[in-house]
Amino acid sequence: MALWHINGGNRLEGACTVQGSKNAVLPMLAASVIAGADTELMNVPVLSDVDVSLQILRNLGCQAVQSGNDVYINSKNLSDNHIPCEMMKSMRSSVLFMGALLARCGEVHMCAPGGCMLGERPIDIHLDVMRKLGADVRCDDSEIVCRAEKLRGTRIELPFRSVGATENAMLAACGAEGTTEIYGAAMEPEIVDLQEYLRKLGAYMSGAGTDRIVISGFSPDSHVGHRVIPDRIVASTILCAAASCGGDIELIGVAPQHFSQIQLFLNTAGCDIISGKRNVRLRSNGKLHHTGRVITAPYPGFPTDVQPLLMAALLKAEGDTFFTENIFERRFAHVAEFRRFGADIEICGKTARVKGVKTLKGTNAFAADLRGGAALLIAGLESEGKSVVHDKDYICRGYEIFDRKLRALGADIVMEI
Ligand code: UD1
Repeated sequence: MALWHINGGNRLEGACTVQGSKNAVLPMLAASVIAGADTELMNVPVLSDVDVSLQILRNLGCQAVQSGNDVYINSKNLSDNHIPCEMMKSMRSSVLFMGALLARCGEVHMCAPGGCMLGERPIDIHLDVMRKLGADVRCDDSEIVCRAEKLRGTRIELPFRSVGATENAMLAACGAEGTTEIYGAAMEPEIVDLQEYLRKLGAYMSGAGTDRIVISGFSPDSHVGHRVIPDRIVASTILCAAASCGGDIELIGVAPQHFSQIQLFLNTAGCDIISGKRNVRLRSNGKLHHTGRVITAPYPGFPTDVQPLLMAALLKAEGDTFFTENIFERRFAHVAEFRRFGADIEICGKTARVKGVKTLKGTNAFAADLRGGAALLIAGLESEGKSVVHDKDYICRGYEIFDRKLRALGADIVMEI
């Protein structure tokens, strides 16, 4: 359990580097088993989800070490294809070992993955993808077993642009004979980065970033190095914090095109934003106005992960903002917590209406998931007085030394474990 102590009301000022992307590196860590190669990944954030992936790799017989923001993996001596249930349950991305181990070993044993509770999070599309590629998939209450004598390239049509299912299809297809075409693929920047990494590992793959990805073979390389893209959700979090607190900040080492949607909305809310090739500067007087409708959608639409963060930024904005959540069914847990600060929000089905209030007051609030938890930190920072955010270790799954980063920008925030 972490307690985030916040004394709200400070402006945020200064320059800030942004960590590597959690959602990009997690599929890469799973992918590392495919080729039996020596891998060096750079710009890897120090996070509990990364640590769990490294534990899974070591449990499978691989060498896997993190030193600062570098990770070294050697999967030559992979000796197992079972993933213990407690490791599967500690994060959603553990499911990506399904495609990767199937590609390498033709067999994988696991149980259903865990992760943040954002409503039902089935893995039916992942399992259908494995079946399509020729695997025999058996599931009971305690175990999922996938086996394939030989995976065969095929045409896969995803019923929904699922990020994880697209990644799992890319990974499994690396072990298939013939060509695999994935239609209706998710187009997130993390998928483009995964393709870059898989190509270095030896995959013949193209199309990531569009809705059709083609994988036509794999010839393993023995030594691979890759630098992970910067984290667009962490960048969005810091922008939302500075927008609502008021300030003048610059994000350095980012890919501004990956989070153009949030820049657009914050600009509409009244912030000055200038983006360069690898940096973004935001200036805000802290007096924001509503942005109309925010509707979450698969990339390049408005990211569901940023919905709680922008909502936090607009709690005091003049006028009403409507947030429609289309990706996850229970992604409004932060709303009840925002109300503790004095926010005025009504939920009707998939839409939350935020009526801007004049002031927010510091309080005790309870994180129920990763991004919702980060949104409570923003609410604390923009509120008058002291807040404590009680966090069952959700926030550290996605944010590296986040209290230090925010303190360097002038925030009064300390995380106590
Ligand atoms: C990834 C991101 C997460 C982000 C989400 C949507 C990582 C590690 N996590 O999660 O931060 O919020 O994309 O952008 O990259 N679904 C099914 N069946 C399936 C798979 C998904 O019904 O087999 C549904 C989910 O329940 C959800 C929707 O599809 O409602 C989107 O899920 P998906 O895109 O798969 O999200 P994740 O890959 O889990």
